[in-house]
Amino acid sequence: MAAGGGLHRIAAIAESLPMTTTERTAIGAGAVAPAGGMQAYRASVLHFTGDPALDVNAHRWHEDGLLIVADGHVIAAGDFALLQPGLPAGVPWQDHRGKIICPGFIDTHIHYPQTDIIASPAAGLLPWLEQYTFPTEEKFGDGEHAAEVARFFLDELLANGTTTALVYCTVHAASVDAFFAESAARNMRMAAGKVLMDRHCPQGLRETAEQGARETETLIRRWHKQGRQLYAITPRFAPTSSQTQLRLAGELAGAWPDTFIQSHVAENTDEIRWARSLFPTARSYLDVYDQAGLLRQRALYGHCIWLDDADRQRMRDSGAAVAMCPTSNLFLGSGLFDVAAADRAGMRLSLATDVGGGTSFSMFRTMDALYKVARLGGSHVSALRMFYFATLGGARAMRLEGTIGNFMPGAEADFLMLDARATPLLARRTAQSETLEELLFALALLGDDRSVQATYIAGALLHART
Ligand code: GUN
Ligand code: ZN
Repeated sequence: MAAGGGLHRIAAIAESLPMTTTERTAIGAGAVAPAGGMQAYRASVLHFTGDPALDVNAHRWHEDGLLIVADGHVIAAGDFALLQPGLPAGVPWQDHRGKIICPGFIDTHIHYPQTDIIASPAAGLLPWLEQYTFPTEEKFGDGEHAAEVARFFLDELLANGTTTALVYCTVHAASVDAFFAESAARNMRMAAGKVLMDRHCPQGLRETAEQGARETETLIRRWHKQGRQLYAITPRFAPTSSQTQLRLAGELAGAWPDTFIQSHVAENTDEIRWARSLFPTARSYLDVYDQAGLLRQRALYGHCIWLDDADRQRMRDSGAAVAMCPTSNLFLGSGLFDVAAADRAGMRLSLATDVGGGTSFSMFRTMDALYKVARLGGSHVSALRMFYFATLGGARAMRLEGTIGNFMPGAEADFLMLDARATPLLARRTAQSETLEELLFALALLGDDRSVQATYIAGALLHART
């Protein structure tokens, strides 16, 4: 199928974009790439080398592009005309012209055990946790149930183009084992961890601080860096952990510096009041985590709506990152994340669905919500930046740049084949697009799982839309 309409008209813009010598010659005449297992895909290619809000040259767009992968890794991404002659003899290219190849989406905050309670209305975060979340999470002591939900959850991620996520399990070690077993079977790069809670939750979800720390360490040893699996130390949020539990989590985080830390902070005003009353000596809610040694690189905090400037600065200086959860924040009425204030502080930002508080698995629906929330706050988030947040921005927040998030040579080949004409409305609207920004904006605001034609994990096709 020939590229047409809007895609055609943006060719001239793409031509004028700078491209580094390395990118042009990554698979030139002299470049030896293993022919075994090599695959090449011809389509438009989009990826990022930085944040488009900070660098106008941070995106790479190849209108008639080629992505070459071998053994699960990217060999090269660039212009078809430049790369095709360098393909080793006998390596054919697949023709996907009219589609857009981009890196797989990265969802930096999501709860797999909440899949079955997505779209359950409540008066706010705390009643929602009581009414729906804790009861559904209590079922995950059963490994069979956990595995069944994990399978559905991972299939749903793949259908929505999400290839990496930072995932909450439940307090049950069985929920973690089930999740990682299913993720490993798909060879997906996933980070996940057992939720830590030792108070203010049902008996069936509670454990002692020591037990939680012991099980966490066992799970780290079992799963961290097993294939593509990575572990996340997961204190749910300050109100359900004692100071001792947070301290033990912080000690583990110090002992295992390349694990992740994930938690919630400053999401909801009732929650903040509660946290402040439980930890009265802390300067702020965020400071509770800081005092426990839980702010560092590879620490990702969900929501961050009600931080003050000192908190924002501290997040930035510590290297911790924000998981913006716009559909969840709207659904639970938690508040509006202040993108402009976060940018002024130079915080590391990433995009997340927060299912089941969030109302969609789709990073497109999440971009749509992010855009509107920022708009209400007086900011414009460009489509390029939204795609950056969903790809390289997530990788940077997780300190996985170079491994996932873009198509630099050597990166893991998790990628999507997107269809900007997947629905009649999308087709009609994107046919009118005169710029790349306009095309991507329409895709971000109107797209969903129908726009994800195929999802590849480490070079293997794992989802194809039928
Ligand atoms: N705060 C503590 N637990 C949760 C949770 O499961 N979802 C959300 N959105 N916020 C939380
Ligand atoms: Zn959450």
